[in-house]
Amino acid sequence: MEQIIFAGPRTRKSGLSPKSLMGHVFDDPFSSTGPRKFICPFALPPTRNPPPTENTKPITPPQGKYPERRTAMPDYHHYKHDMIDPKTDRVAVYERHVADLLLNNKLDDTRGNSSLLFELKHSHGAVQFGRILARKRNLPSDIVALAMLLHDIHVGLTGCYKNHAARSAEIASEMLNELGLFSDTEREQIIKIIANHSDKHITSTDPFCEIGKDADIVDCFLYPNVIAGYKFQKTPEMFDKYIERARRVYDELGIPWTGEDI
Ligand SMILES: [Fe+2]
Ligand SMILES: [Fe+2]
Repeated sequence: MEQIIFAGPRTRKSGLSPKSLMGHVFDDPFSSTGPRKFICPFALPPTRNPPPTENTKPITPPQGKYPERRTAMPDYHHYKHDMIDPKTDRVAVYERHVADLLLNNKLDDTRGNSSLLFELKHSHGAVQFGRILARKRNLPSDIVALAMLLHDIHVGLTGCYKNHAARSAEIASEMLNELGLFSDTEREQIIKIIANHSDKHITSTDPFCEIGKDADIVDCFLYPNVIAGYKFQKTPEMFDKYIERARRVYDELGIPWTGEDI
């Protein structure tokens, strides 16, 4: 009997959670070519708080805003649920919100132009490149980070790339109204980055427009076959502009340019 390792969308259709499938061999209920088995490759996450052993050193609770909750958590771990402090990290509030939105998205991940996994990876990759470039260019890091977090939000929520820069800007605008934390000027800068990020073939003098395109492209170029993909999708003129932009950012960051896909 044929055996396959499989844990994609079909496991979700089967109604069994990945955790319950872990390490087990099941009949593939969706096989159209006769009986076969699939093995779920998911592993259980490591235990958060391992049981104490006799060598375990006692932890001194750090003093802080929530000392009673920090017995095992270093102070820098500000992403922990309600320990996000908007006064020290406004972007983290939005990061939490976007992660919740995407992880709870009921979109059928087998359809559409992109996948939730890619959108989660790419949005957070672009955030970090946005922060690096913002430091280099002396632009406000949290403005750029938030814009990059939301620049493709429409794709994450719908799986669709069509007009996604404008649509992501609309969603971001609503989110900024709802969650607050940014001034009117900052909101304009964020929306400008998002709304213009797809025009990578156009070079402007606006530092906010340019940094969004650059952070996006430098993250995209770190996934396999992206250069080949752009060559296929774009006109030759546009493709050349994309390469020109990526080369410029690589030079700025001191990354050797090979012109080849990773
Ligand atoms: Fe995009
Ligand atoms: Fe993007």
